[in-house]
Amino acid sequence: MKQPFFYIANWKMNSSFEQSLTFCMHNQPALLQLSAYPDTTLVIAPSFPTLYAIAQLFENSALHVSAQNCSEYTHGAYTGQVDSTSLAQVGCTYCIIGHSETRAYCGETDAQIAKKVNCLLEQNITPIICIGETKADYEQGKTFALLEQQLLPIRKVLTSEALTAHTNNRCLIAYEPIWAIGTGITLLTDYLTKVFSWLQVYCAKHMPNTNITLLYGGSIDENNAGTLKAIDGINGFLIGGASLDFQKLQKIIVCTY
Ligand code: 13P
Repeated sequence: MKQPFFYIANWKMNSSFEQSLTFCMHNQPALLQLSAYPDTTLVIAPSFPTLYAIAQLFENSALHVSAQNCSEYTHGAYTGQVDSTSLAQVGCTYCIIGHSETRAYCGETDAQIAKKVNCLLEQNITPIICIGETKADYEQGKTFALLEQQLLPIRKVLTSEALTAHTNNRCLIAYEPIWAIGTGITLLTDYLTKVFSWLQVYCAKHMPNTNITLLYGGSIDENNAGTLKAIDGINGFLIGGASLDFQKLQKIIVCTY
C-alpha cells in the first residue's frame, strides 16, 4: 500500500476559538474534498478549546484533528494539563509533542516527550514528535548529535515490548530546524537530503518495529512545497503560518499532489 503524504496544519496560538471555527465552517466542503484525495492525510491542529467542535464538524470524514500538546501523566493533580484520554474522547487522533516552542516556552524535556509518546499510543493517538536543531548547532556541525540526543529517550519507549501493548504503533517524526520556523528560510535540498537520509537509517536501525513517517516543517509555503516534497524521505509537512490562509494551504496540497 502506498504511504499517504501528510499535511498537518499547526495553528499554534494564532487562531482563536471563533477564528478556527469560522475557518473550518467556511471552508468545510473544500477541506473535505482535499482530505479525500487518495494517498493524502490532512490533519488540523487547533488550540485545545477548539478541538471538540472541529472534531464534531469533521466526524466520519477523512479529515483528522490533532492537539498541540498533552500531559506526560495519565491523570491526577496536574493543574492546567490535558490528558491523552480526554484528547481521544474529544476526537483527537493525532497530537504534536516536542515542538521547539513548547520546549522553549514550557520547558518540555526529551524525557517528558518520551513519556507522552507512551500516553498517546495507549489511547491510539498518533504522536507527531518534533525534533530539530538551532542555527548555532547547525553552524557548529552538531545537527546529528542533537537529533540523536532528542531521539534517544523516544527510541527507548518504542521498544517492541511496549509497542505490542498498544494497538497503534504509528509515529510521525517531524524534523523542524528551529532556524527555519517562521523565518522564511528554505533549507538547501542537499542539506535536507542528508538529514532525511540519516533519519531513515536511524529509524530503521533503532525503531524497526515502529511504523514511522518522517515529516518536514519550517516556512513551508506554496512556492517551496513542490521542491520539498520531492526530497527522498519527506513524507509529509508540518505547516505553520501558511496553513492559516486557506488559499495557501490548498495550493500547497494541490501543487504537490
Ligand atoms: P512555519 O511554517 O510558520 O515556519 O511554522 C512551522 C512550524 O513550527 C510548524 O510546527
